Amino acid sequence: MKKNIGIGLLGLGTVGSGVAEVLVTKADSLAEQAGLPLILRKVAERDVNKRRSARLGPNVLTSNPEEVLSHPEVDIVIELIGGEHPAKEYIERAITNGKHAVTANKEVIAKYGYELFSLAGKHNTDLRYEASVGSGMPLISSFQQELAANKISAIHAILNGTTNYILTRMAQEGLDFASTLKQAQELGYAEADPANDIEGRDTAYKLVILSNLAFRTKFVPQDVYCEGISNIAALDFLYAREFGYAIKLLAIAKRDDDEVEMRVHPVFIPRDSQLAKVDGVYNAIEVETDLAGKLVFYGEGAGSLRAASAVVADVLAIARNIYRGVNNVPEVKLNQRGTVKPMSDITTRYYLRLNAPDRPGVLAQISKVLGDNSISISSVIQKESDLAAQTAVIVIMTYPAEEKGVQKALKQLKQLPVVNEVSNFIRVEG
Ligand code: NDP
Ligand code: HSE
Repeated sequence: MKKNIGIGLLGLGTVGSGVAEVLVTKADSLAEQAGLPLILRKVAERDVNKRRSARLGPNVLTSNPEEVLSHPEVDIVIELIGGEHPAKEYIERAITNGKHAVTANKEVIAKYGYELFSLAGKHNTDLRYEASVGSGMPLISSFQQELAANKISAIHAILNGTTNYILTRMAQEGLDFASTLKQAQELGYAEADPANDIEGRDTAYKLVILSNLAFRTKFVPQDVYCEGISNIAALDFLYAREFGYAIKLLAIAKRDDDEVEMRVHPVFIPRDSQLAKVDGVYNAIEVETDLAGKLVFYGEGAGSLRAASAVVADVLAIARNIYRGVNNVPEVKLNQRGTVKPMSDITTRYYLRLNAPDRPGVLAQISKVLGDNSISISSVIQKESDLAAQTAVIVIMTYPAEEKGVQKALKQLKQLPVVNEVSNFIRVEG
């Protein structure tokens, strides 16, 4: 008979510290729910001398991950070092050593999930990843279990707290992107290297994970068309407001017959929509289903205890199974590759912002290029003419048009002698 469940932890950073704290402060409640005490046996961290808040027992901390991965009394390994390598290899080693694994690592799950679930299946171990999308929001379990009877037709989601915080500040205070990012870093919201967040990759990984569950087929990060937020200017927020829109970085997955549209990019969304009102570091996920209707999940998508909530829930679920002698290996359907709708085939409305000389005939030439590419204009604003330079900012909203036509038109507009600059174009959703 087991007397307790041994836990090993890799990484004692933001999330790892939260997990260590919860395992200690909620030890009694967790033991009651699991049936056995959960004991944090070993924690590996790169720099063991770094000052940290977590209270650990003697000889628990090590700089050698192998001491966690092969510890005979560790039943569950929690990977919280982040990044692709060596996180993936550590999860593999934990599984091949017969241990269950829990991770919050969206990059590893989005890129190697199927490989790792298959490996876990072979070794009769469990691999859980609830914190990887939406932190403490119960998304993975909802998609896997509570929504299992549904056919999901679409996901529209704000999945990254850092970029949502930046876009919210830019919208509310009229700041530019670079200074808002700097402030977000100073406040500890954005990471020192914020590239994955800013360029939309973090959101794309999360969209892959949700889409695999929602559409029950295999998608990979390369399937997602991905654009970040660094091109958004303060002016775009002014025009968005004027047209009745907010600007958000959205993750979109839509089923269209046998194809799925998968994209991450900034969008104009109506200001009165629910997603437009999601501000700051909050995340929100709208799911359209055939049985449960339209559902919205809303909550903080980042933070030490937010993520720890989901990580410890995964640990608890595994611990309960160990206590009951239940073997719960992940389900894998390796051969069902999802078909992605090419980005060039999507149809949506577009916002274009151009800089052009302020003189007769300019608008006519611009609208001819759009018309030649089957793009119909729904409205035009011309303001903020620079009298000295005799230039104007021209903003155009289109009716629904095909992406391939819009890309062709953008190329032609850039070459048009009467266009100084195509300053931005943003897709419109909803
Ligand atoms: P941190 O950078 O705060 O923590 C990672 C820790 O792991 C650091 O202390 C780091 O040490 C250590 N580490 C890195 N590489 C190694 C290694 N090879 N061996 C031992 N220790 C190592 O990251 P977070 O806690 O923020 O994120 C952890 C995971 O959780 C990531 O996958 C992230 O995407 C995910 N996540 C994070 C959320 C959040 O709000 N922060 C929310 C949901 C998920 P050092 O500092 O010396 O590099
Ligand atoms: N960097 C992520 C964010 C952390 O800003 O949302 C949570 O996954």
